[in-house]
Formats: sequence, C-alpha cells, structure tokens
Amino acid sequence: MNTIKTEQLIARLIDRVSSDTTDESAESVIASSAIFTDLERFKKEREILFLNTPQVIGYAGEVAQPDSYLTAECMGIPIVVTRDSDGVLRAFINACGHRGAKVAEGCGNKKRLTCGFHGWSYALDGSLVGRPKDDCFASDRSQCGLRALPVSDKSGLIVVGLRSDISQQVVDHALDDIAEEFSGFDFDKLHTLETRRYEVAANWKLVVSLSHEGYHFANLHRDSLAPMMTSHGVVDEFGLHTRWAFALKGIEKLAEKERTLWPSRLPGAINHTVYPGTLIVVNPGDSQIIRVEPGAKPETSVVYFSGVCTDLDKREESMQTYIFGGDIFATEDLPAAVQCQQGLSASKKDFIIGKNEPVVQMWFKRWQEALE
Ligand code: FES
Ligand SMILES: [Fe+2]
Repeated sequence: MNTIKTEQLIARLIDRVSSDTTDESAESVIASSAIFTDLERFKKEREILFLNTPQVIGYAGEVAQPDSYLTAECMGIPIVVTRDSDGVLRAFINACGHRGAKVAEGCGNKKRLTCGFHGWSYALDGSLVGRPKDDCFASDRSQCGLRALPVSDKSGLIVVGLRSDISQQVVDHALDDIAEEFSGFDFDKLHTLETRRYEVAANWKLVVSLSHEGYHFANLHRDSLAPMMTSHGVVDEFGLHTRWAFALKGIEKLAEKERTLWPSRLPGAINHTVYPGTLIVVNPGDSQIIRVEPGAKPETSVVYFSGVCTDLDKREESMQTYIFGGDIFATEDLPAAVQCQQGLSASKKDFIIGKNEPVVQMWFKRWQEALE
C-alpha cells in the first residue's frame, strides 16, 4: 500500500531529522493584517474561495453502502449526500420541499429520508415519494423534490459544489492534481467516528494556518505533541493543493534497516491541504478532516473536525487517537488563533511568515492570487 510514496517520504524525513533542518522557502514574507479584518475582502473570499469552489465535506467510506446517506453543513448550507440501491451517488440541499426543514440528520442507512416537521418523505434520488394529507397541496409532487448539487467521490473523498450551477466536471476534477498522492489510503473504506464543530473568534485564514507549520510545536505543544513528534517537515505542491509531512521522534533509526522493512504508512502525520484550505490528515492508523470556513464576519470562523477509522474492530483505539488530536487542536491551537486575531486587529501590524513556514506562505499566495 502506497509503498514507494511512503518510502520516499520516510527517506526525506530521515534526512531532515538527521541534519536538524526542515524544508524552507527562499525568503520570509509579510501580509497586511487588514486581510483578517477587511469586510470587502472577506465577502470576496466567501464568494470566490468557498461558494464557487468545490468543497471536500467527507470520506466516500461514510456513504459506501447502498441505501446510505451522510449530512454536513458547509457555509451555512445544509447538505445531504446519498447513495441509492444501485450505488449512484447524489447530493442535495438538505431542505424539505414543504417549508425547508431538514430531511435527514447524521448519517446511516435508509431507503427513504423523512422530514421531521410534517413527515414529507423522499427517495434517495431526491424525489418526493410521500406527503401526508396529499390532497391539501396543489403543487405537483414532481416540483417538490430536493434541490440537487454536483457531487463526486473520486479519490475517495466527497466533493460537493455548493451551487447548482457549478459544473459536474469542475467538481469531478477538483482533486485530480493530488489524486495520486491519495491513492492507497482507501478513503472509500473508512468508517465514521465523530465530527466536532467549533465557532472560533479568528479569521478562517488564521485557523487554516494552524495546521501548516511545525515551528510552533516546541512552544505551544511543549507538553502534548512536542514530546512525540519532530518539527522537521517536508513539503510538496500538487497543483493548487499541498502536502506537509512530519514524523514521530525516532524515525531516523529506520536508516539502519533495509527499506523493505520500513512501515507501509508513515510513522508520523501527512497533512494534505486541498484547495481552498481543507486539511486531510493521514496518520499511521486513521485519518481526520479539518474543514475551516468563514464565519459571519471577518474575525470569525467555523471549524469542523471529523475523524474516521480504518478498522471497526479497532474503533476504540481510533477514537483515542481522534480525541487526542482533537483536544490538542481545541485547547491549544484554536486559542492561539483567537489571540492572533485579537492582537492583529488591535496592533494592525503585519503578519510575518518565516522561511521555515513554507506551507503558510504557499497558501497566503494562493488566496491572494485567487482574489486578484
Ligand atoms: S417542512 Fe418538511 S414536511 Fe413540512
Ligand atoms: Fe498545532
């Protein structure tokens, strides 16, 4: 599974750890603190980077079975993704044709989705199939189905376009440039664990940037992550997407072993960031998604942290990994982003990105270019 890619990553990380270096960019750069507070920019970011860009909202494994569904919320839009008896994948706005209430919650297996308000029910192809007191409604049933959205499960991830007019082709090809790096991770076979939702008093870019450098490990995560992880990272770009990998301490000892004896998964974490800033973390056992979106104003964001497990028999173990990572993120990383927002809003000083934070630089450049 993934052997050559993993082997190359391990070899590069051994080099970095042994030489006590990390992948760097050519120079340090700065960004104006106004990009975290400006309302016009914020509106453009919402429009261009989120509402008009396909978004990864989950793993294909969560809707792998016939007659299954999953729900999510993205940019305030309730979404339901279904797979029908024939295996056809669809996505809809999770809003009933009667008055707009949700027709599904959570995820699971069902042949029909039924609105909790007055009981209208829908087949997994979005058509209305049941309407209590049907004779009280003049609207034709065929006009009352769910509103469809473009969706794809290529690369084992669920990618959705938030507007009906985003073309299916754009959604289908959104992850093409990084698809090969995802092969072998079997995202289509992973099982749902849990999703946590956070409302954060920090601009979404500050929150995404939390997961783009190891420079903060020694301080912010001194007693949690730092004792076990190295901060030496290796970095790659795949079109608009990026990858930053870092290792568990002791990886350099693998240099003494034959490469054929190296593990099939990186002993560490691989942080893939897919455009416009969704993190797909792969660790030795499982995977997590950190999805960040703009909140109601520039200084706020909404974060979804989801975990999945590879093997249902090891669900407890996976849950522990998920909780460990999730707790560090919630109690150490997110408060740091809130402090940065408060500080930048008050001082109006520049935001400085060092040579040793190349992934942070890559993303600030991408976001800037998208808006120009
Ligand atoms: S809002 Fe769904 S049945 Fe009334
Ligand atoms: Fe962190």
